[in-house]
Amino acid sequence: MKKQLKTLLVGGLGLLCFSCYYDQEVEEEIPDIPVDVPISFRDDIQPLFMLEGRDCTTCHNGTVANPDLTEGNSYDAIIGTLVPGDAENSAFFNALPGNNHPVGAGFSLTVEEIALIKGWIDRGAENN
Ligand code: HEC
Repeated sequence: MKKQLKTLLVGGLGLLCFSCYYDQEVEEEIPDIPVDVPISFRDDIQPLFMLEGRDCTTCHNGTVANPDLTEGNSYDAIIGTLVPGDAENSAFFNALPGNNHPVGAGFSLTVEEIALIKGWIDRGAENN
């Protein structure tokens, strides 16, 4: 009986740690944006940094946290942290809320939002 209890306890704790660890990970497959759907930095990507209630720029504003994601500054701030054409090897892509952001942001981007950023980087990360 005692041994069973111990197993249950250790198992439960393990499961808890496991779920915390995976909290920040994208659990769903990141979909590809169809090639005929254009992705514009100005119209599709920048707005993701300023969503109502999920606003990156409350922290990423040039003082609290880097990179500066405010409008007009974000492109220059992130272009050096990514590999145009290769999102998977881009530090910026691999640190998004919902994709291993280094600290708790208080929210995550959705898989669809992450897919847009991935598509934009994979297509060359243009300032378009
Ligand atoms: C609650 C504050 C907060 C929010 C909100 C937040 N971040 Fe962060 N973010 C940080 C901190 C702190 C770091 C660590 C780097 C630093 O201190 O400069 C960080 C790091 C990052 C990094 C890695 C930068 C590097 O040089 O390693 C990226 C990329 C990033 N955030 C993107 C985002 C995006 C995109 C959003 C919104 C969708 C967001 N963050 C929302 C606080 C925040």
